[in-house]
Amino acid sequence: MSDHRKPTVPDQTATAPHAGNGTARQPSRARRAAAAAVAPWRHFPAVRTKVAELVVQDARLGQQLLEQGVRASQELVEQGARWNRELIEQGVLLRQELAELRGEIARNKAELAAYRQHTARQLRMLIRSSFYASPMEVGSLAPREDRMDLDACFRQLERLAPYAFAAWKELLEVNSHAYEGFPLDSCSVAGHPMAQEFCCFLWPYLQGAVLDIGCGPQPTPCYLRDYPSDRIAGIDPLPPADGHPFVYVQTVAEFLPWNDKTFSAVVIATSLDHVLLLDRALAEIHRVLRDEGHLVVWLDHIPGAAKYDPYRPDVEKIDDFHLFHFDRPWFEEIMNQRFAIDEMAASSERSYFYAFRPRGEMRGVS
Ligand SMILES: C[S@@+](CC[C@H](N)C(=O)[O-])C[C@H]1O[C@@H](n2cnc3c(N)ncnc32)[C@H](O)[C@@H]1O
Repeated sequence: MSDHRKPTVPDQTATAPHAGNGTARQPSRARRAAAAAVAPWRHFPAVRTKVAELVVQDARLGQQLLEQGVRASQELVEQGARWNRELIEQGVLLRQELAELRGEIARNKAELAAYRQHTARQLRMLIRSSFYASPMEVGSLAPREDRMDLDACFRQLERLAPYAFAAWKELLEVNSHAYEGFPLDSCSVAGHPMAQEFCCFLWPYLQGAVLDIGCGPQPTPCYLRDYPSDRIAGIDPLPPADGHPFVYVQTVAEFLPWNDKTFSAVVIATSLDHVLLLDRALAEIHRVLRDEGHLVVWLDHIPGAAKYDPYRPDVEKIDDFHLFHFDRPWFEEIMNQRFAIDEMAASSERSYFYAFRPRGEMRGVS
């Protein structure tokens, strides 16, 4: 009869070193665990057998779990590798598509820029031709021969406002360096966004002979670029650039060397707050402007800026460029003495464009 209570796991003796063969075989961990598990039950054969069976089953299940785990992680690794390959392939495709899209955008941009240039050229030609087609006759814009030269103008200004003149003259000299190379922040040159806006505001008022007061030393300011040069005269106390394209007189707004009612439009772009004698400059502008003409002004208003009086003995510069700033209430009040506002546009919080027509009742200064 077989002993069914006999343990099915090898007992410890099975792991004992074999005498005589010289090698000491160590029991495996499973065997050691089985032996340890059945050891307390050595006097209870039935329990011992059951424990041994359970230990074997546990080992089998452990093994199965281990194998399943290995298979699952292998599958995961393979799946991961597959996804990785797919992602890389997709990434390559997307990068190719992106490069193509970028190329297309660059081509479209270039086309748009060329189209814009083309339409801007056509528009300019149209505007030029409309100005030339204007029926208004323009006589000679040469200044009067008996005019005062610049030094004589300076002497007159000094006599009229001796304290303010010294400060104004100093600013003029400092500013002459600021205009070297015609930088964008001081001069209306191509690319100046506000000057471009002023140009649009100004166009409808340009007709016949045009005078630009404080036109700056640069060749044609960009706001007048498309107006025929032979219909423009400009003044500025600074010397002009070489090869200046229109009549340029080096003088000041306070003494304009032209006869009454010579101009159909007078332009002052960011220069009115640079003159020394504001009252005298406005009277002169009024004198040389035709009755149906316009004075078009671009200036900054600084809220709270004090009313300017150049005849006081305590006049000082207000910043590195100006003796004074305008504030809208007092500016419009003094303008109202000789001019009426036809149009006004606030280009930014500070910058304003005005189109004035001359009033009939006041002319020049005594
Ligand atoms: C800010 S710049 C403007 C120049 C030009 N209009 C432009 O937009 O590029 C002011 C100009 O006013 C000129 N200026 C200073 N005092 C003047 C005066 N009494 N009469 C006329 N222009 C004067 C300066 O020499 C300077 O060129």
